[in-house]
Amino acid sequence: MILGIETSCDETAAAVVTHRGEIRSSVVSSQAELHARYGGVVPEIASRRHLELISPAIREALALAGVSLDDVDTVAVTAGPGLIGALLVGVSAAKGIAWGRGLPLVPVNHLHGHVASLYLAPLELEPPFTCLLASGGHTMLLDVRERSWDGVRVLGTTLDDAAGEAFDKGARLLGLPYPGGAEIDRLAREGDPAAFAFPVARLPGLDFSFSGLKTALLYAVRDLDREQLRARRPDLAASYQRAIVRALVERAEAAATGDSGTLAIVGGVAANSELRAALPDAVAAPLPLCTDNAAMIASAARYADPVPAAEYLALDAFASAS
Ligand code: KG4
Ligand code: ZN
Repeated sequence: MILGIETSCDETAAAVVTHRGEIRSSVVSSQAELHARYGGVVPEIASRRHLELISPAIREALALAGVSLDDVDTVAVTAGPGLIGALLVGVSAAKGIAWGRGLPLVPVNHLHGHVASLYLAPLELEPPFTCLLASGGHTMLLDVRERSWDGVRVLGTTLDDAAGEAFDKGARLLGLPYPGGAEIDRLAREGDPAAFAFPVARLPGLDFSFSGLKTALLYAVRDLDREQLRARRPDLAASYQRAIVRALVERAEAAATGDSGTLAIVGGVAANSELRAALPDAVAAPLPLCTDNAAMIASAARYADPVPAAEYLALDAFASAS
């Protein structure tokens, strides 16, 4: 049994997963409400809240799985990338539990975790495949050759904002609460996606850019008075979402022409209903596993190297991928 821990951003998560990839429990305690009043995640507040939530989250994950720490043989934790103070809470908790129990600890790359959400039962996707990873912090196209992170090659990435960041910033311009992706998704269903002609950046290769789109929305919003904005919000949301989804779909389809041809989508933005509908043949991560969770971290740990007891006491968290 693997105990997974994830605290890279504003979700405090713990999960129990078997080595065969069955989820026994997955507890996600979101801090979104706490950060909503600031319009985004405040790192210092996130760290403090992780500190309060981490032990209850772990206890609940064990209880829901009907196991105790005696049944756990591996501890897995997100080591990065993410908010450094937030990561350190999870890493310290994981070290404490592993050290106290004499267990090995597996440091997991958060991006590997998102991809590994596809390896859990009942999906159990086998490489090779092309993966679109779209979240609040990252937007990447990946060539996945093996289940280990070493077997993954980056084909393209965003040159500025991540797709989820574009959703969140767009939502803010529209006066919607944080986190905005799900809010735009909901509001867009009532609007006309052809109402506003928002640009899709044309870049060579498989890279993305979303900053021009955000500026286009800013100008569209500035041209409207308060009443007009209220009336046109669904149209703005639908047109803005359409532009993000088109950019993602175009490049994902262009990338998935390799030998396997299979396309998979993971990360918070993979929860978007229009994106899922626009890629009916893609393997999409199950909805509860799209946004940050610890089951995907435990899943990735099955394909990463454990660090033996004592050695991992020197393990550090890392903030950025490079
Ligand atoms: O993977 P995730 O939980 O955290 C990161 O690793 O960044 O992704 C969070 C992002 C946020 O930007 C959020 O707005 C976006 O995923 N998101 C969505 C939807 N649900 C969450 N974006 C579009 N449509 C959704 N339904
Ligand atoms: Zn994530």
